[in-house]
Amino acid sequence: MTHISVKPGGRKEIRIGLLGCGFMGKCHTNAYKTIPYIYPAANLMPRLLLLCDKNQEKLERAAVQYGYEECCTDYEELVNDDRIDIVDNCGPDPVHPEPCIAALNNGKNVVCEKPMAISVEDAKRMCEAAAASAGKAMCTFNYRFVPAVRMAKDLIDAGEIGTIYHLRIGYLQMAGHDPSLSPNEAWYSAWPHSGGLQGIGSHAIDQCRFLVGEITSVSALVRTFNQDRAILSAGSKDAVADEGTAALMEFENGAIGVLESSVVATGRKNFLCWEINGSKGSLKWDLEHPNSLFACLEDRGDNTMLGFKEISVTEAGHPYVGPWWPSGHNLGWEHCHIIEKFHFLDAVANDKPLSPYTATFEDGYKVAVIIDAMRTSSRNGQRIPLNF
Ligand SMILES: NC(=O)c1ccc[n+]([C@@H]2O[C@H](COP(=O)([O-])OP(=O)(O)OC[C@H]3O[C@@H](n4cnc5c(N)ncnc54)[C@H](O)[C@@H]3O)[C@@H](O)[C@H]2O)c1
Repeated sequence: MTHISVKPGGRKEIRIGLLGCGFMGKCHTNAYKTIPYIYPAANLMPRLLLLCDKNQEKLERAAVQYGYEECCTDYEELVNDDRIDIVDNCGPDPVHPEPCIAALNNGKNVVCEKPMAISVEDAKRMCEAAAASAGKAMCTFNYRFVPAVRMAKDLIDAGEIGTIYHLRIGYLQMAGHDPSLSPNEAWYSAWPHSGGLQGIGSHAIDQCRFLVGEITSVSALVRTFNQDRAILSAGSKDAVADEGTAALMEFENGAIGVLESSVVATGRKNFLCWEINGSKGSLKWDLEHPNSLFACLEDRGDNTMLGFKEISVTEAGHPYVGPWWPSGHNLGWEHCHIIEKFHFLDAVANDKPLSPYTATFEDGYKVAVIIDAMRTSSRNGQRIPLNF
């Protein structure tokens, strides 16, 4: 049980210690700063207590810019600080396991960026530490909290598209499309990164499990097109810097899926996209148009008017939209991070369950197993049944 002091005004203070002051450290901090005024009724007050980064110069600048009270360069200090309620790990992929496990062993609540771990063994250790801890643990699969994605999940769960037959999903970026870029210039390849499948494919795999259900087998081709970037980027056999994956997936409920992940998709900046076809309807969404859900729902007549309709998921009655802006005033990429962190804080402060909408460490572990199976399939040319 987390110790929560009550501040004047009745707001519950939740003390944050954050590791890694780069891109995601800034994004998560933005979420904690935004929560109190977007969700006043929740009476939560995240307190930015301790920022940790091994790069001291960057750390000191960021601590001032982000508004942390204290900073440190050694994560041991962070995970052992008795004052901290939530340890938020925004460090690079290889720096996820040890600080998260230590924090969970100390009974802290933990937020960990994806991919939770780059090896199945590390992901399993993290999952076990979470199961044994008094703290709650979330893996940051933030796209679950895009209002249009949650609306799609609700429609699927309510049976509105019937039995699911097909899923087509892609996560496409272009960071490494230019062959002249060195490994250090392509974000997914050089240390401490771990390839395109871990970096963005992990999000796509989580969307598959969130929307359609458990995956039971995979077969895949995983490729590095620019061979000078085929390095063991995070120092592990599980972390070859791949650039493109094409996979087939079989789901527990009988659906079949096709997944593509690419960091060399020229022209694609940040294109997570999916289409799901069921016996009664279909749904379609992409991250470059995040507020629109395209839905083709059952036409009870002769199909002459059957087709996709664009729904602007910006009404107060739509999932997660209520506390934000009036109808038609769009949300952007950062909002799914704010909504996700709010739900985690609310779960911590009020002892609410994380599942089924928030990704847990078990979800992070299962994604690691699926990525490992895709790599194995690519090496041996076989379809791999999944055993979690
Ligand atoms: N969910 C998302 O939308 C999303 C988007 C991008 C990245 N990510 C993930 O977030 C994580 C961080 O990525 P990023 O883009 O912010 O990286 P980044 O390089 O911008 O920041 C990482 C920071 O961690 C620090 N660091 C490295 N090793 C450390 C250590 N041992 N102790 C303390 N600090 C250390 C670095 O100095 C750096 O400031 C990665 O796991 C990445 O996969 C998630």
